[in-house]
Amino acid sequence: MAKLWGGRFDDDTDALVDELNASIMFDKRLYREDIEGSVAHAEMLAAQGIISDDDVDLITAGLRGIRADIDAGRFDFKLADEDIHMAIESELTRRIGDAGKRLHTARSRNDQVALDFRLHVKREIATVIGMELNLVTVLADLADAHLGTVMPAYTHLQRAQPTTFAHYMMAYANMLRRDVTRLEDCRERLDFSPLGSGALTGTTYPIDRAATAQKLGFSGATENSLDGVSDRDYAIELLSALAILMMHLSRFAEEIILWCSWEFRFVELADAYSTGSSIMPQKKNPDVAELVRGKTGRVYGDLVGLLTVMKALPLAYNKDMQEDKEGVFDAIDTVKKCLPVFSDMVRTMTVRRDNLRRAAAEGFINATDCADYLVKRGLPFRDAYTVVGKLVNYCVKSGKTLETLDISEYKSLSELFGDDVYDAINLENCVALRNVTGGPAPDEVRRQIAGVRAFAGERT
Ligand code: ARG
Repeated sequence: MAKLWGGRFDDDTDALVDELNASIMFDKRLYREDIEGSVAHAEMLAAQGIISDDDVDLITAGLRGIRADIDAGRFDFKLADEDIHMAIESELTRRIGDAGKRLHTARSRNDQVALDFRLHVKREIATVIGMELNLVTVLADLADAHLGTVMPAYTHLQRAQPTTFAHYMMAYANMLRRDVTRLEDCRERLDFSPLGSGALTGTTYPIDRAATAQKLGFSGATENSLDGVSDRDYAIELLSALAILMMHLSRFAEEIILWCSWEFRFVELADAYSTGSSIMPQKKNPDVAELVRGKTGRVYGDLVGLLTVMKALPLAYNKDMQEDKEGVFDAIDTVKKCLPVFSDMVRTMTVRRDNLRRAAAEGFINATDCADYLVKRGLPFRDAYTVVGKLVNYCVKSGKTLETLDISEYKSLSELFGDDVYDAINLENCVALRNVTGGPAPDEVRRQIAGVRAFAGERT
């Protein structure tokens, strides 16, 4: 089959080379952006007097027809066309003749693909942000419902201090909020059109790069043509933002997996978001959370893959860069598959308040508060710490808790203890007193919820 670039060659390429060289199987997903870019380019060429108005009419009508056919699944993608850019250009020329052959004036596939990919990434960022904001809202709702649900917070996976389920959910909401801003930062930096960079050193035609950039919704044109066709930073930034996002989901997924085990029983997942076992009739497995945790690995792989492809590439375009797309598409697909299901899984899970409260009552998570009680009565913190350490040691040996020790047992270790110690170690009080900014006191968490709701509200 004749190639668009066939003039230079006497012989056909080897069939296996065609297969290796082609990207159409995966870059066909850029067809909308490719057509949009071509329409903007053709209109600019006509406005600058580089092609005629008749040509641009034929080109834009032809491209719209091709777009409609691809939309409707009527377009035959052929390996021989190599990539989406040549597939569309060849088909256009087949349909409209010579005008189609003028479209590629003052353009190269190098600036074309750079443009298509940026436009695509920019759109996908908006979709992912929307999905992430939805999860943020689910967490805010859940937090609202659990402002007073006391639970233990952990360090080293050992019960550490009292908090609430609301405070816990808001920790994740804040991570996701940063994910959103990371995606926004990436979008802001990529928002420049490389079109007009040509193959690598621009063009001698009197093109108007600012006009195409504006028409395509960019905030401007890239500053340097060599950089314009060589830059894939934005794809790497996107992948790293998505990798971090998945890392957050994966941590949350891990906790949910733990929490719905019989050892914790803090939450129960809805049947719609759980799966069974083929052999063990009693099983209800958190496969959704496990898959989100597992798929984090592939998104990391996509990031490391592209970093490695780009490492040590000389300027400007090198065919290695065709390897930029599959990893980015895979990461986007993965995140878009995970986020909505994860949100619904969290939204529909049952939170077992009683079990959370029971777990909070074991493990001496009010020991810090007990020490603080002594501090308020004049004991230096380090001494108070030692007294309470001894109390806990005594409790562990005698099978008691700080709540069930009687006052004489307290007093045997420090005369500073009085009857009001029981109030000081009451878990609800311990939480309510942690009203420092960022803490779990219900009013403070209400403030945190309002903050993330405002953040989501500004963006929807
Ligand atoms: N399919 C190619 C890619 O994805 C398009 C750019 C081809 N440019 C070239 N000089 N061969 O990178």
